[in-house]
Amino acid sequence: MKKPQQAVHTAFKTVCAAAALVALVAANPAAAADAGNGKVLSDSHNCAACHGVNLNKPVSPEYPKLAGQHADYVYMALRQYQMGTGNPHLGRNNAIMQAQVQSLSQSDMKDLAAYIESLNGDLVQKK
Ligand code: HEC
Repeated sequence: MKKPQQAVHTAFKTVCAAAALVALVAANPAAAADAGNGKVLSDSHNCAACHGVNLNKPVSPEYPKLAGQHADYVYMALRQYQMGTGNPHLGRNNAIMQAQVQSLSQSDMKDLAAYIESLNGDLVQKK
């Protein structure tokens, strides 16, 4: 049997832990990728002009298919185009895509990545 003072202390610790957890979840924008907004961005930035219908029919064989690609890969690729030659180790040096991503925020890129992952495409995983 706990002493009353101990019980209050335990209850206080529980409340603190819960409050800390809520603060942690609220501060984590990674959980908030919004595929719906990704579609809006994809339409307004005309990604399909090069990557084709549903981002799955590129207009030229040099342009990659995007539909169904893993979101974390897409997000990283977009960030790399943003870094460009400013980061010689990680940046991607492609003038066309560098121009596409300049106006995108981190959360825009996460939303686009979530949208791209949600699309059905020809990309397959071989086992
Ligand atoms: C003017 C044509 C054009 C437009 C518009 C365009 N892209 Fe691209 N995209 C390309 C080309 C070309 C490449 C290949 C670049 C390279 O070799 O690194 C590419 C590559 C990519 C890649 C890397 C794919 C991979 O497998 O590594 C992603 C992701 C991507 N584009 C997303 C987008 C998104 C999102 C948009 C809209 C915001 C967009 N692109 C608009 C031409 C375009």
